[in-house]
Amino acid sequence: MWRHHKTNNMEKLKFNPALRFHWLTGMYDFLLSITFPERKIKQQLIDMSELRGDEQALDFGIGTGTLSQMLKTQYPNIRIWGVDVDDNILTIAYGKLKNTVELLVYDGKRLPFTNEKFDTVVSSLVFHHIPTNMKAVVLKEIFRVLKPGGQLIIADFGKPVTTYAKIAFAIFRRLDGEEQTRANAKGQLPNFVRAAGFLVVDEFKHINTAFGTVTFIKSVKEL
Ligand SMILES: C[S@@+](CC[C@H](N)C(=O)[O-])C[C@H]1O[C@@H](n2cnc3c(N)ncnc32)[C@H](O)[C@@H]1O
Repeated sequence: MWRHHKTNNMEKLKFNPALRFHWLTGMYDFLLSITFPERKIKQQLIDMSELRGDEQALDFGIGTGTLSQMLKTQYPNIRIWGVDVDDNILTIAYGKLKNTVELLVYDGKRLPFTNEKFDTVVSSLVFHHIPTNMKAVVLKEIFRVLKPGGQLIIADFGKPVTTYAKIAFAIFRRLDGEEQTRANAKGQLPNFVRAAGFLVVDEFKHINTAFGTVTFIKSVKEL
């Protein structure tokens, strides 16, 4: 089963569940599969990671575990840790991944890992859930747990690139939370990544969806 990480201050950050309401979490995989090019987005993220296959990887905001499942299928020797703030969604992830991935719930503030543990951190559709004032904190934490030379690849909503995506994302933001999606809508995520110390090496790939434009940011912690 997944593990609780206890910190001195276990006051947990308030968070929006994956589909806004806790009662929708059990339907996350189904609803995404009928409304969203989920696998195309996750595959693009995996392709950008250019993995050897023997890395130690962190799936940040692992959710129901689909990205880690795809990674494990394509790279059986990769070691993956998955972290999330939501106990309920980790139960679903555990049902899919069993013990192939190490699952941990944490307080949303300090990642439960030692410095420089990971070669790669991947994160799909998570940063638009994180309040603006916490995005920098979280990115600093990811920077801390990455090895020098390690990489962070993020897939998340960015500045919409078509009129349709602009309207769709405006509606989506109303439902999902205006505040935590604001920096995404303005295309500011790459700036947050840079401010945490990363070198952004690719920030221009995108995929349009029914809810807005998903952008990809590849960055490295320089040696
Ligand atoms: C839309 S879901 C995406 C899940 C999964 N990565 C995917 O691509 O299907 C967003 C996830 O981010 C998690 N999350 C929200 N705030 C977080 C934080 N501060 N740290 C880690 N995970 C967080 C939520 O609990 C949820 O599982």
